[in-house]
Amino acid sequence: VIDIRKLYGQIDKFTYDPGFTSTASCQSAITYIDGDQGILLHRGYPIDQLAEHSSFMEVAYLLLHGDLPKKKELEEFDYTISRHTMLHEQLATFYRGFRRDAHPMAIMCGVVGALSAFYHDSTDITDPQQRLIASHRLIAKMPTIAAMAFKYSIGQPFLYPDNSLSYTGNFLRMTFGVPAESYEVNPIIEKAMDRIFILHADHEQNASTSTVRLAGSSGANPFACIAAGIACLWGPAHGGANEAALNMLREIGDVKRIKEYVARAKDKNDPFRLMGFGHRVYKNYDPRAKVMQQTAEAVLKELKLSDPVLDVAQELEQIALHDDYFIEKKLYPNVDFYSGIILNAIGFPTEMFTALFALARTVGWVAQWNEMISDPEQKIGRPRQLYVGATQRDYIPASKR
Ligand code: ACO
Repeated sequence: VIDIRKLYGQIDKFTYDPGFTSTASCQSAITYIDGDQGILLHRGYPIDQLAEHSSFMEVAYLLLHGDLPKKKELEEFDYTISRHTMLHEQLATFYRGFRRDAHPMAIMCGVVGALSAFYHDSTDITDPQQRLIASHRLIAKMPTIAAMAFKYSIGQPFLYPDNSLSYTGNFLRMTFGVPAESYEVNPIIEKAMDRIFILHADHEQNASTSTVRLAGSSGANPFACIAAGIACLWGPAHGGANEAALNMLREIGDVKRIKEYVARAKDKNDPFRLMGFGHRVYKNYDPRAKVMQQTAEAVLKELKLSDPVLDVAQELEQIALHDDYFIEKKLYPNVDFYSGIILNAIGFPTEMFTALFALARTVGWVAQWNEMISDPEQKIGRPRQLYVGATQRDYIPASKR
């Protein structure tokens, strides 16, 4: 028996780190997280200050360019983004190839990937100007793509963008407006939606961002790289958790049943987990969850709605915060715990939740992708592996096995 690793001289040193819990894959100046303290900074600015005072467009500029824009710079950025909101008309035909009941994330993966077939003038990644145009296109077109996915699923006609509206107002109109009627953007809802986008804009080297970087490290087409990020985000352990969290809260349904679900989450023989709880990096309260909780209350008040699911969520949080299992394992509500309640109140079906996350995270993805491509130390990403398979053996014909 030959040890195959010795045979191929593979006894060199490397780190075996499943899930990359202690391996940095890059240097980055975009986002800082202190998971123990519950701190999240974008380019040095605390997330709660950005959520309170900024707009999604301003945060997008900040992430892409490194500093908050001056008034004129923001106006120009806004104008540029609004000039890229249209989709090529041929893409409307592409939508019609999907089943009506397709998950919006399936459509998002397909349509964003398909953009790579349309914009040949912004795919020379060695040219910073072309990279910027590709980034602007992606940020600008995501609301149109997500709104069209929604319209397609409910059988309504697509709405063209109205560039006189804000980024978020335009998205709300394309989603909830109908061609025959005028649509008034509710400023409270617009602000809440914008805030949700800010809270999801970037989160350093999470799974989907790492996917975008890894795909982009080979020099791949930027639109295809973002489609890869969308595919990764879809999973229930990542962006799909907001959908899963609301479904779980609805299933619990009544504060009286919370204890039963908490017991299940603690049971080692039950695969059930409290969705919207726990985080790879935050071992303290996710700072985004705090803002999200306040926004949920504000939106329900504005819409004069009372949602029993909010009561269940708040009670569940309180029970978990005082439970030894959750304290010991440092499991706190994450950004996804309250976001579903807001999105549901605004009128989005749960299937759209992760698509909205993808829309917002596109800003972080393109900022991280640009940073990676412009890094002189950038190399193709190529993780090592610890081989545990068969040792070398000779082929035996099927008749003799
Ligand atoms: N409910 C119950 N127990 C949990 C939960 C939970 N939500 N999350 C973690 N645990 C337990 C695990 O069973 C494990 O216990 P053990 O040490 O006895 O084996 C321990 O806490 C550590 O959990 P890991 O899965 O090893 O932690 P990891 O950092 O790999 O996972 C994750 C983080 C995936 C977010 C996890 O907490 C989870 O599955 N949460 C629910 C899904 C969710 O809300 N995802 C959204 C994340 S935020 C985002 O993507 C935007």
